[in-house]
Amino acid sequence: MIIFMKSVGVVKHFISMLDLSRDEISYLLNLSKDLKDRRKRGERIVSVLKDKHIAVLFEKPSTRTRISFDVAIRELGGNPLILYSSELQLARGETIPDTARVLSRYVDGIVARVKKHDSLVEMSKFSSVPVINALSDKEHPVQILSDLFTITEFKGELRDIKISFVGDGQDNVLYSLMLAAGIVGLNLYIASPKKLWPEEYYLETTRKLMEKSGGQLLITEDPVEAVKDADVIYTDVWVSMGQESDREWRVKLLSPYQVNSALVEHAKNDYIFMHCLPAHRGEEVTDEIIDGKNSVVWDQAENRLHTQKALLYYLYW
Ligand code: CP
Repeated sequence: MIIFMKSVGVVKHFISMLDLSRDEISYLLNLSKDLKDRRKRGERIVSVLKDKHIAVLFEKPSTRTRISFDVAIRELGGNPLILYSSELQLARGETIPDTARVLSRYVDGIVARVKKHDSLVEMSKFSSVPVINALSDKEHPVQILSDLFTITEFKGELRDIKISFVGDGQDNVLYSLMLAAGIVGLNLYIASPKKLWPEEYYLETTRKLMEKSGGQLLITEDPVEAVKDADVIYTDVWVSMGQESDREWRVKLLSPYQVNSALVEHAKNDYIFMHCLPAHRGEEVTDEIIDGKNSVVWDQAENRLHTQKALLYYLYW
């Protein structure tokens, strides 16, 4: 049984993995396990968000994030308001600061999926209620919180294993994974074509964090080198939302980085395959891998619910 930790009294936003310390991540992973076990036993904790309204705002499509936040908020006793920017005055030019000010007068929190990361930063400056990043072009921290939890479920611990990310090195999920690797002290190997290696800010920040946490970051153009003896192989789509006009060159450049039977031969026998989904089967991953015995993608998707409940619990209890 976990001892519930009360969050600090100031408004706490979760816009980047950098908003959490190693202790907070560890606490949230333990709390996620507790909440997942309680849900399996049919126990509900309804009081945390009782009489609270949470706006869940989308500038881009979503399946997992939209539904898992909706259910998470309801299961904690709150009322989710699922909003699409195309139906708000945002679509007619009302500014992010004005929208944040107004929403703060009605609701107790804002979960937002935005096109530009700066929109979240701006929103957090003008919001008097917590703002949670539900994906931006730079980060997807709620995804990585869930993924860390999934890794602990299958591998038992995070620090002494090899995690390999194969594909687009400028991916928003990867950036949150890199920062988490820096904070927690993970061994992260990235294979990506040089043209798509991570931006300097994320490399520099991760390396600085690792000086303290003891993690390891290796970047290579060679996918075999990255997945050799890997415990975890992670990939994401090659063409993210908003990059559709770059599809042709991206698919051509990234095709040697497909996660397929030949590539996973180099990993440990009991490696796990992870993908934040949705997947483009036949591009970044083949059917035999995503549907294979080492794939944990459905558990990974389920865990979005449990870790987001833990996050909300932490922010509102
Ligand atoms: N992984 C993820 O964020 O999925 P959705 O885009 O469906 O929310």
